Amino acid sequence: MKTTESRGKLLDEVRQGEPLIIESSSTGKKLYLESYGCQMNFSDSEIVASILTKDGYETTTNVEEADLVLLNTCSIRDKAEQTVRKRLKKLNSIKKKSPEMKIGVLGCMAERVREKFFEEEKLVDLVVGPDAYRDLPNLLGELEDGRNAVNVLLSKEETYDNIEPVRLGGNGVSAFVSITRGCDNMCTFCVVPFTRGRERSRDPQTIVDEIIDLSKNGYKEITLLGQNVDSYLWYGGGLKKDFNKSSSMAQATALRFADLLKMVAKAAPEMRVRFSTSNPQDMADEVLYAIAEHDNICNYIHLPVQSGSSRILKAMNRGHDREEYIELIKRVKKIIPNCGISHDMITGFPGETEEDHAETLSLMELVKYDFGYMFFYSERPNTFAARKLEDDVPLEIKKRRLSEIIEYQQRHSKENLSKYVGKTFQVLVEGKSKKSEDDLYGRTSQNNVVVFPKKNFRPGDFVDVKIERATSATLIGISK
Ligand code: SAH
Ligand code: F3S
Repeated sequence: MKTTESRGKLLDEVRQGEPLIIESSSTGKKLYLESYGCQMNFSDSEIVASILTKDGYETTTNVEEADLVLLNTCSIRDKAEQTVRKRLKKLNSIKKKSPEMKIGVLGCMAERVREKFFEEEKLVDLVVGPDAYRDLPNLLGELEDGRNAVNVLLSKEETYDNIEPVRLGGNGVSAFVSITRGCDNMCTFCVVPFTRGRERSRDPQTIVDEIIDLSKNGYKEITLLGQNVDSYLWYGGGLKKDFNKSSSMAQATALRFADLLKMVAKAAPEMRVRFSTSNPQDMADEVLYAIAEHDNICNYIHLPVQSGSSRILKAMNRGHDREEYIELIKRVKKIIPNCGISHDMITGFPGETEEDHAETLSLMELVKYDFGYMFFYSERPNTFAARKLEDDVPLEIKKRRLSEIIEYQQRHSKENLSKYVGKTFQVLVEGKSKKSEDDLYGRTSQNNVVVFPKKNFRPGDFVDVKIERATSATLIGISK
């Protein structure tokens, strides 16, 4: 359960097993890269690593020997930005010992704070927004000429579709593939439309090509990524091969998310397919049928709701009310029996009363989610809520409501897991268990973590595991 900001991750810390070979003409310069925030940021870091490896950089896990230090940052909540600012201060002290070192800020915080970074954080040399990574080699040239460098232009077209990412995900089993960038939904609390710009979809052929390539390199699972995958839309065809001849997509001029999902599932039938994030207002029933029809599309949907109160959902501009969400959940459960469902929830949005909060709790009781990502409201500059609504729920009340929803979620997760005892699930092995050398861990289609004795199995194997017991967040079993 994620209730706090993700910690920064080192690039090389997660690189073992990386099978893709990158051509580079090494200049001996060393890059140290840390990522914060959402999966999309981790995926973007793989693009940045690809661009800079081609520009002659080698990666390092030792910040002290780096010529270039990049932080791929997150702005989603104030706490995420504070984490980055603290990290920059720490890097400043390291830079004092090696004054040649250059420090750059990438991602959402670069886009939000822009040139002000040079004044606010004296140690930042380079500021690059999420749509400007192709410009990194030029910008680094400007740094060599002794100038600070910045590019925060947002694009309506950039999808980095022809860049082969350097896989930093680590386990060699599971990889992210980005399918859309940006978001047009304008939820009133959310900074993403401002930092990541307009929504655009990636050429489906490049998506399929990347996935087939991953499959050839031994990967067994992909997660299609976008801020709002359900609004994926591609006009114009141009596919080299029709992976979906029998479906309506072959005749249709527009390719929607359900079509893409089916196309990917058929193009890589031996791989598991996941996706994130879905948006209730944009999720078509065709997506649910696609999951039900294809064994390799995982029975798991991350379906953020943010609040159980229709009044608050309206103020959030979420495009659906409580009843519509409940109807959608009913359809999910009917069309995909055994579907894992998770959520994002915010407590203490402006104007949230105890009655609204009680509606959130009652929605959770009704859905009984498998997982949850829960936060208290953090006002973000320039958003509609920041401009027009008073942040009027006191912090201690936001926190109390948060701890209540976390308590509900823990109880529901536990109840759901205990129902699995005695059943057998196919598990995709991801690696060694952290607790025991003799055990492996992996995930079920529903995204539950399963730990079981290693025997001769290895990461990347699909193993049928009979569940013997459940802890609060993990299933423990034995291979059949
Ligand atoms: N559609 C995106 C959402 C990104 S933000 C996706 O791909 O997941 C992830 C979650 O952060 C949101 O669903 C919301 O629950 C939370 N969040 C966004 N803005 C927030 C804010 N201002 N305060 C607290 N939580 C916020
Ligand atoms: Fe943010 Fe809403 Fe888009 S939460 S990323 S504006 S769907």
